This record gives sequence, structure tokens and C-alpha cells, in this order.
Amino acid sequence: MHFDLTDEHKVMRQMVREFAEKEISPGIQERDESEYFDRTIMFDRLAELGLTGIVFPEKYGGAEADYISYAIAVEELSRVCASTGVTLSAHLSLGANPIYEFGTEEQKQRYLKPLAAGDKLGAFALTESSAGSDAGGTKTTATRDGKQWILNGSKIFTTNGGDADTYIVFARSDKEARKHHGISAYIVEKDTPGFSFGKKESKLGIRASSTRELVFENCKIPEENLLGTENEGFKLGMMTLDGGRIGIAAQALGIAQGAFDAAVQYMKERTQFNKPLSAFQALQFKIADMATQIEAARLLIYQSAYKASNKQSFGKESAMAKMYASDVAMQVTTDVIQIFGGYGFTRDFPVERMFRDAKITQIYEGTNEIQRIVISSALLR
Ligand code: CAA
Repeated sequence: MHFDLTDEHKVMRQMVREFAEKEISPGIQERDESEYFDRTIMFDRLAELGLTGIVFPEKYGGAEADYISYAIAVEELSRVCASTGVTLSAHLSLGANPIYEFGTEEQKQRYLKPLAAGDKLGAFALTESSAGSDAGGTKTTATRDGKQWILNGSKIFTTNGGDADTYIVFARSDKEARKHHGISAYIVEKDTPGFSFGKKESKLGIRASSTRELVFENCKIPEENLLGTENEGFKLGMMTLDGGRIGIAAQALGIAQGAFDAAVQYMKERTQFNKPLSAFQALQFKIADMATQIEAARLLIYQSAYKASNKQSFGKESAMAKMYASDVAMQVTTDVIQIFGGYGFTRDFPVERMFRDAKITQIYEGTNEIQRIVISSALLR
């Protein structure tokens, strides 16, 4: 066992950090305020850097890197802009990865390649208004009609919704089956007739990332767009979320690290009582606690990423990483605002945005209460 990053990991970190600071940081406040997803900066440029398909084999347009590289990339993007971090995470883990893991060769050629290359943006549509944590309660229907499926219903809270080109959509394909049985997954393209977009959410945080309702009204898709085995889509969704949680954990870690770095700099510059804030032990102790929590979160993430890369079971570990890292992000951003005092409460400093961005990491891709179900089920099985 060793804890050193490889040279490739270090190069990746440096490259993404420089990119995020130079190219994503400018305009970040305007994008946050106007809830604007700037596709050129927040996605097309990621494609040019080889990030949009980072973990996939070269033959599908990927960079064939491991999940630790992916986690580093999402962390570094989120250290500056959590909206960009989740755009990549939802695209790669939730939109593209299920096609890689469960798709036919034809589906990989047709859909995975452009996703990995970043020519297309991906999304994952599981949640419905009455099926959030209870994902098995999916009500959207898929009815077979000759050589096609007809989708009816709606999905909410879809990250990248409206902007994405390719969607993984879950629908009930066997109305007689109970709960999670009888749900299938489908690949649905943006311009398919009968597929439209509803309400765009106005959110507390990650405001530059779009979150939108999807509406299906007699939306006909070819039978070959069924992903994986008919009626076995729930498990496909759960396995996809196992991987997605590495991305969200890395996003949370990036938010915490970004806020922490801002606090260290501020404590050295700001003086009160003729001393820099860094000379006050009450704040020094906060720094020690935050740094320890951040490092522990990072190790949990690397552990789950390592297992994912090495084809070991990692669902429990990614749930632990997501749960812990998101709680750390919330705690650290709260403490950092305290260190900044009144200034931290204003929009003059980015920590206010980081605090707002942190909250969603405790909620999406399974609330932290759901993570506890996933973890305890694995331990008590
Ligand atoms: N891998 C493989 N199989 C799994 C699995 C996993 N990770 N998790 C469950 N399963 C299997 C079970 O083994 C079981 O199989 P059998 O039928 O063969 O016994 C089956 O799936 C049903 O499992 P459960 O009985 O545990 O199912 P449940 O209905 O009790 O739900 C749950 C379990 C963990 C609560 C699940 O519903 C869940 O994860 N909910 C949260 C959903 C979620 O994360 N939503 C976020 C959506 S994405 C998002 O946030 C927006 C975005 O765009 C980012």
C-alpha cells in the first residue's frame, strides 16, 4: 500500500488547477447570479483537455485514465467552480458510464464515442416528483409498440437537463411488476419528437449548472435504445449511482478545499488586534480540524476510486466517501464563513457561493440518509 500519487496524477492535478483558475474563474460570479451554463467554458473546453471521457478506453474516444485521475479532475474543477465539477460528473458517471458498462457495441459506437469526445453532453433521468429517494417508485411508463418504445411521464431535477444531448431515462416497462422490478433504462436523444423540457429550477447553489424537468409525451424511441436488460433497469441505475457518488464526493472535496485555501490566505492577510488572524489559536485549531477532515475525505474518495478502477466492489466505499465528503464540505464552508466574519457573508468573497454550493452534495445522487441505508445494508447483508 502506498499513498503517493503517480506522476500522471500530479500532472493531471496541475493541468486542471491551472485551467480552472485561468479559464473558469473569470465570470464565475456572473454565471452564478444569472444561472448561466456557459457550455464553451464549462464543457467544450473540458473536452479539449481530454476530461469528458477520461476513464473510458481510447477505442471509445476516452483517455483510459483511472478513477483517481477522474476524482482529481472533478475535485480541481470544483475547487474553483462546483457547477463545472457537477457538469462533468453527471455527464461522465451518469450519462456516459452506463452506456460503457451496459451498452451493446453498437450503442457504444453510436452514443458513448461522442459523449467521451465531448461532442455531446450526457445526463441521467431517474428522479420523479413522487419518486426521489424511493427510486423504485418510478411512474414514467415505457410501452412496447412493434419495434419501438413509447415513453410517457416526466422526470425532475435532471442535472444538465435541457443542455444535454443524450439522456439515460428510467421508465416502468412492466406495469404488473412490483416496485423496482419492471423498470428499464433507455437512451433518449434530445431532439426526439415527444421529448421536451419543463421547469428549469432556480437553486440555492450550483446555479451555473442547469437542473431541469424532462417531459415525455408519446415519445417514440427505437427498440435498440433499450439499455441493458429489459425490466432490469433499476439495478443498472443503482450500479451507475455507485460510480456517480465518487464524482459527487470529489465535487464536495473540491468545494471544501477551495474554501479552506481561501481561509488560509485570508487568515494571513487580515489583521485584527494588531495581529494576523493566523496568530489566533481559536482559528488555528479550526484550520487543523478542517485540514484533517479534508484529508480523511480525500482518502475515502481515493479508496473508492482505486477499487472502481480495479474492478473491485466499491458501492459501500463510494457511499461512505460521498456521505463523509459532503458533510465535510458543509462543515468546512460554514467554518470558513465564520473565519471571514461579515465579509464571508457578502458576495465580495467566493466562500459565500461555496457554502451555498456545498449543500446539494448532501442531497443529490442519494441523500446522506440514503447513503446510510446503502452502507448499513452492505454491512448487515
Ligand atoms: N448494485 C446492484 N444492485 C443493487 C444495488 C447496487 N448498488 N442497490 C440495490 N440493488 C438491487 C438489490 O440487490 C435488489 O435486488 P433483488 O431484487 O434481486 O433483491 C434490488 O436492487 C432492490 O434493492 P432494494 O430492495 O434495496 O431497493 P429499495 O427500493 O429499498 O431502494 C435505495 C434502495 C438504496 C433506497 C435506492 O432506492 C436508492 O439508492 N435511492 C436513492 C436514489 C438516488 O440516489 N437518486 C438520485 C438520482 S440522480 C440525481 O440526484 C440527479 C442528478 O442528475 C445528479
